[in-house]
Amino acid sequence: MVSIQSHRKDEHVSLAIKFYNKTSHAGFDQLRFVHQGIPEISLDDIDTSTTIENIKMDFPIYIEAMTGGSEYTKKLNQKLARIAKSTGIAMATGSQSVALKDDSVASSFEIVRETNPNGIVFSNLSASADVSRAKAAVKMMNSDAIEIHINTPQEMIMPEGDREFNWIKNIKSIQEELACPVIVKEVGFGMSKETIQQLVDAGVKNINISGKGGTSFSKIENYRRKKQEMDYLEDWGQTTVESLLEAQPFKDKTNIIASGGIRTPLDAVKAIALGANSVGIAAPILYSLIKNGEEETIEFINDFIYGMKSIMTVLGTKNLSELQSKKLILSSDLLSYVSQRGLP
Ligand code: FNR
Repeated sequence: MVSIQSHRKDEHVSLAIKFYNKTSHAGFDQLRFVHQGIPEISLDDIDTSTTIENIKMDFPIYIEAMTGGSEYTKKLNQKLARIAKSTGIAMATGSQSVALKDDSVASSFEIVRETNPNGIVFSNLSASADVSRAKAAVKMMNSDAIEIHINTPQEMIMPEGDREFNWIKNIKSIQEELACPVIVKEVGFGMSKETIQQLVDAGVKNINISGKGGTSFSKIENYRRKKQEMDYLEDWGQTTVESLLEAQPFKDKTNIIASGGIRTPLDAVKAIALGANSVGIAAPILYSLIKNGEEETIEFINDFIYGMKSIMTVLGTKNLSELQSKKLILSSDLLSYVSQRGLP
């Protein structure tokens, strides 16, 4: 019998594809680099490597948390793991909570490690999970890190969602007791400086601000509700760019990761210039896999990396720290946001 949770995982995939938009609304079009005509660099000089604590990554992009928990998403996870292996990028799975409740679906996550034994794999669980569940999730895939997601609007729109959000105690103890890096992430609603401060105070060393402008879980869950739509929440949250601006005061205190509406190599390069040390991409990779297959998705990722390197060449920045020292021009809307929020 298919459980309600497994069915939900399949629905999330089909709705993310249904609503997929190749155009980002995450605010990247409100940022510009200043062109410099004589960069004094060659493409071969570009080093895209980065780290998440002790984890060394050759490329600053990874497959963001999406699937697992059903027969269909097991196949997707296997394909995504093959894509990650072939391109050399890291991969997060979707929430493993379903597999901690029901052993029979654990294989839909275990298959990721079986497929890519030496790859970089991130676990994923809700912030409602306690330390023992977080440890079990990491053990299930022998993961290199764990993502803990926060997603209050999504839960409130889901009729079967959580209604209690006393999360900081769990986050603090997971951060303290897990041996691997812990990443606290949003799911596309973005973060404020106040939220980031709470996480920094809890000792969190990696924060993925996952902003608005790409996949919208308020839209997906509203569609699943079928009645009593809460579509007034569809525009809730800070865009990825606004969230990165909110994160500016914390760049020296915690590792910033960006996701949400990263659709082009230029979006990814701008996110890094705003302080992100790596970038998660979710729906574009899933869309490419489902519509075009594995081979084309490998090509899509390799082209994406090449595109990032090309832009870094044009900018004359040979590595991520040089890219992060580049100043961006902000639109007047963004300047107004910065001033109203009292951001540096
Ligand atoms: C997600 N996302 C997600 N995030 C998370 O932390 N745990 C999860 O289980 C899921 N599940 C999930 C399923 C599907 C089908 C999609 C498309 C996404 C959210 C994801 O990791 C990311 O934060 C957002 O999708 C924003 O990135 P994109 O899609 O705009 O690149």
